[in-house]
Amino acid sequence: MWASAVLLVLLGSFGANALDNGLARTPPMGWLAWERFRCNVNCTADPKNCVSEKLFMEMADRLVEDGYKDAGYEYVNIDDCWMAKQRDANNKLYADPERFPSGIKGLADYIHSKGLKLGIYTAYGNFTCQGYPASGMHLELDAQTFAEWGVDMLKMDGCKQMDRHTMKKGYPQMTKYLNATGRPILFSCSWPDYERGAGIPINYTLVAENCNIWRNYVDIQDSWQSVLSIIDYYAKEQDTLVPVAGPGNFNDPDMLIIGDFSLSVEQAKAQMAMWAILAAPLLMSNDLRTITPEYRDILLNKDVIAISQDNAGIMGKRVLQNPDGIEFWLRGIPKQQGTNREWAIAFFSRRKEAKSFTSSFKDLGLPADKVEGFDAYDVFSKYYWGYMPPDANFTVTIPPNGVRLIAFGQAE
Ligand code: GLA
Repeated sequence: MWASAVLLVLLGSFGANALDNGLARTPPMGWLAWERFRCNVNCTADPKNCVSEKLFMEMADRLVEDGYKDAGYEYVNIDDCWMAKQRDANNKLYADPERFPSGIKGLADYIHSKGLKLGIYTAYGNFTCQGYPASGMHLELDAQTFAEWGVDMLKMDGCKQMDRHTMKKGYPQMTKYLNATGRPILFSCSWPDYERGAGIPINYTLVAENCNIWRNYVDIQDSWQSVLSIIDYYAKEQDTLVPVAGPGNFNDPDMLIIGDFSLSVEQAKAQMAMWAILAAPLLMSNDLRTITPEYRDILLNKDVIAISQDNAGIMGKRVLQNPDGIEFWLRGIPKQQGTNREWAIAFFSRRKEAKSFTSSFKDLGLPADKVEGFDAYDVFSKYYWGYMPPDANFTVTIPPNGVRLIAFGQAE
């Protein structure tokens, strides 16, 4: 059973009819305001944390100066609550002038001057989830406006569009208008999540033709429980979700909450590892001005980022759930340049205490008969196991509510 699961991982198809704007060839990386900063618009009481151009400029500075940009994080994404409460006299959206005195164009220029990209947010339907003006009646005008401003990514939400059946028409219209602008704009769609919520069957072929990334499931919150419930959903739906992911198209389990208030260091490693295994966008929602070094190191770990960003874009899956509460997740990473790494395994634990797990590569269903031995590397402890014959037993100790992430390939 494991062997066939491994084969499936390696043969994962790549979303053949995918949207072709040349973007998201690997899962996008960056920063997104929502989970941490929400709809805090009170800049008088809370100038440091309100949704304002200053917040995005400060995050851009941190991305550049603290090594995130060099590690691959490039998008700085605005979420809900950036707009003025109404459109202008020409029906155009514009940013709240007090919180965004430079306008979105000015902010985009600043972000671009740092070598970064700017993402923005709208919704299908007349209002955003927080009640600000949205794009329902103005898809074409808004696509043009975003392109004029120099926007590089668009998240289109939709909670106030009560008839979810209209989304399979409305989102593709927006794709058409974005393409017509001539500006490559990475398109992030919330459409499948709303269809799921309404019990409407999701046509993932259509989703992949029209969106680069898409939300499948409920919003992440700042808790381990929330991370677990998201992982459960992706395990449950993996046979549907794995085949639609590939270069240009990725399932989006929502933001990284690493460095926020609730995850322990081990839980943070687990979120990072699982998001890499899932070929998920790595969009941090945290405060890069105050994050502590142990969380920053997790976000900047170049070996876990290399797994996430493997060019083949194959989404991994759960291949074993054992009764002890240990799971074994596997992703094929056949295109890691300059290494012999071909697979990543996450040993993922839901237990309340550390647990040792003994196995061999052969037992794990890897192609042991064709391979003389493996070379394995423990991504977070940065420890090389060295040469391992396929049938040699190894024991890993998995932290409680945590992960051991191993990257490995045939020994040379
Ligand atoms: C929805 C989305 C979130 C966020 C909020 C903003 O809940 O799923 O990611 O964008 O709206 O209001």
